[in-house]
Amino acid sequence: MKNTKVVSQSSIAGTHGSDPCAEPATIVIFGASGDLTKRLLLPALWNLYCDNLLSDRFAIIGASNAELTTEEFRNNLTENIQDFSTRDFEPDRWAGFVKKFSYLVGNFGDPKLFKNIQAEIDKVSKENNTGGNVLYYTATPPVVFGLLARMIGEAGMNKSDKGWRRLIIEKPFGSDLESCVNLSKDILTHWEEDQIYRIDHYLGKETVQNLLTFRFSNGIFEPLWNKNYVDHIQFTVAERVGVELRGGYYDKTGVLKDMMQNHMFQMLAYLCMETPNSFQADAIRNEKAKLLEAVRIMEPQAVLEDCVRGQYGPGTDQNDEPMVGYRQAPDVNPESHTETFAAVKLHVDNWRWVGVPIYLRSGKALSRKYTEIVIRFKKAPEVLFRDTPVDHLEANELVFNIQPEQGIEIKFQAKVPGVSMHLQNVRMQFEYEDAFQAARGTGYERLIYDCMVGDATLFSRTDLVEQAWRIAQPILDVWRALPARDFPNYTAGTWGPKSANNLLARDGRAWRIID
Ligand code: BG6
Repeated sequence: MKNTKVVSQSSIAGTHGSDPCAEPATIVIFGASGDLTKRLLLPALWNLYCDNLLSDRFAIIGASNAELTTEEFRNNLTENIQDFSTRDFEPDRWAGFVKKFSYLVGNFGDPKLFKNIQAEIDKVSKENNTGGNVLYYTATPPVVFGLLARMIGEAGMNKSDKGWRRLIIEKPFGSDLESCVNLSKDILTHWEEDQIYRIDHYLGKETVQNLLTFRFSNGIFEPLWNKNYVDHIQFTVAERVGVELRGGYYDKTGVLKDMMQNHMFQMLAYLCMETPNSFQADAIRNEKAKLLEAVRIMEPQAVLEDCVRGQYGPGTDQNDEPMVGYRQAPDVNPESHTETFAAVKLHVDNWRWVGVPIYLRSGKALSRKYTEIVIRFKKAPEVLFRDTPVDHLEANELVFNIQPEQGIEIKFQAKVPGVSMHLQNVRMQFEYEDAFQAARGTGYERLIYDCMVGDATLFSRTDLVEQAWRIAQPILDVWRALPARDFPNYTAGTWGPKSANNLLARDGRAWRIID
């Protein structure tokens, strides 16, 4: 199907040209000299600035323990933006942007740092007429999220009569159910729920946001969206790269915590939740929470039967060059039992989805980088085609291409032209880049913008993160109790261990082949 070309006003941030700019504010970035800031936050803020989505009345304070002056910090940012920007560098414009940054050095456990930050907030808020609004961003290792929330609270910087105070918390939120519950408790001692914005960068992706729009703005799909028509659902989040230099973090984490418990469960909630009453933040988050509550919590026996784990051994990288195995990567235990691949079969025990298996798989060092969601429908009755050359029918598929290709396709069967009855699979396809002129951003633009306008729709609430851990916890428990004996069990550059295919094959199904 050929697309009608829609010439949109979209900017890099993916927002529409007529969008109002965010509210005036001072942004305080903890961990301002780190990787996340330079790779993602800085380019995202720059994109917002260039697209006129930041108010003129803003200032940014960086804080970390790296010994830097404000001038050195700004010089570093000027180098970083040229490496990581998703748009062209415009020196004149940049000069106006970078002078909004200042920097403070200190230890996150030291009250003196928070005194200095408060003094700097007072100063830059006045200079920039921010109205007193302050957004704190924890671009730090997860171990200090709780500490930062407490230190800001104890310094009295979490509330004010003048303007709002909001806190963006990065992922992962906790490392298991217990630590997640404790972290929530710590943070909620000093912060109200509506001040907390827990980030999941997958929800910043246009293609993920479009799941809701697709379902609820098109009348033709909703009647099919249930056990009567859907045979099963597949989620694949495949990465081509291995663990690279993140071994220290990853070896304590594994793919179940790193990708499934957060990004994939969020997408699952969007895809399968009931219709919300409105697009208000809590209407959507309530439905997401209800959906996650309906996911069956696995008994140990179910974990053994329905969950597969893998770890990559040596193989090849995307350039067909040799790639070391996971256990040989820097900072990884040479006898590590951490999984770099997982495939699980979930059940959603509600009226809409009972009996429809949902298969999720994710891994590092797989054959290619690819994220997709496949809805496979029930087949039409083959019996109609008896006495024709057609010996079987294929099931229809609706596929959401999340990344790197971005689009939606529908697979169906068409008659091959000719005098006899032969069928062939064909596809109807929509591609974002054909239909819209939006340039690519980092995914963080929308999330920072939303926080600055007080829209929490794309952020996780306490009950949502806790429920996601409740689903993952029994799998983690069984895997911890029974370390895998066969690791490494797949070659880098392949589609993971054979057992992942068996998980579906034993149900008479197969993963969609990604070419
Ligand atoms: C992060 C994980 O949350 O998501 C990384 O910690 C992973 O391990 C990354 O590589 C993948 O994000 P994306 O947007 O490239 O799919």
